[in-house]
Amino acid sequence: MIDLAIMPTPAPAIVALDPDALGRNLERLAEILHACVQEGASVGFVLPFTIEEARAYWREKVAPPHAAGTRLVLAATVDGAVAGTAQLDLDAMPSKRHHAEVSKVLVDPRFRRAGLARALMAEIERRAAAAGRWLLTLDTAGDEAFALYRSLGYRLAGTIPHYARDAFEARWAATRIMYKDSMGY
Ligand SMILES: CC(C)(COP(=O)(O)OP(=O)(O)OC[C@H]1O[C@@H](n2cnc3c(N)ncnc32)[C@H](O)[C@@H]1OP(=O)(O)O)[C@@H](O)C(=O)NCCC(=O)NCCS
Repeated sequence: MIDLAIMPTPAPAIVALDPDALGRNLERLAEILHACVQEGASVGFVLPFTIEEARAYWREKVAPPHAAGTRLVLAATVDGAVAGTAQLDLDAMPSKRHHAEVSKVLVDPRFRRAGLARALMAEIERRAAAAGRWLLTLDTAGDEAFALYRSLGYRLAGTIPHYARDAFEARWAATRIMYKDSMGY
């Protein structure tokens, strides 16, 4: 018998979702967001957090800018099923058209440490560069995500204390502001 627990995760395929694909995959994207928040990820939500709130996030906060072309939404698929996602906010004022913000890099807990986030970030960076966005910024509270971004060359600009409420408890946790300048200025 094959022990599935030790089977390596196949390499992910990274795709940019169009509005139809976002709609078709909304339930799966909501499940991934829901799972990440349930385990305490600091991605804007606090517990209790329902699957309907997760669906509403994708429907109300993501779909409109995505349909307007100012938000890139990537999906990492494994064996044809979405297992991770990442976003790039391209909505910038005229003075900041070299800049974009990375957000909601979320990997289904069952597919962690298999290179999905790294693959998503590589595609985010490739598409950002193609759009002339050479300065990428993000904020992150979690140590795993901090390790991920550090490993990809993001630099710590600073830390803001009491930035967001902890997902589980009524206390405010710090966030780290990070950036990557691919022009090397
Ligand atoms: C952070 C997160 C996206 C990483 O996803 P992942 O697919 O497991 O990451 P990868 O397998 O691509 O890891 C790439 C690198 O990141 C670092 N990293 C990722 N997870 C780590 C962990 N738990 N501990 C230490 N380093 C970690 C490592 O350097 C790793 O490289 P390695 O495996 O060769 O050592 C995932 O843990 C997640 O979804 N967390 C909850 C949501 C979240 O906090 N998102 C970030 C919002 S800004």
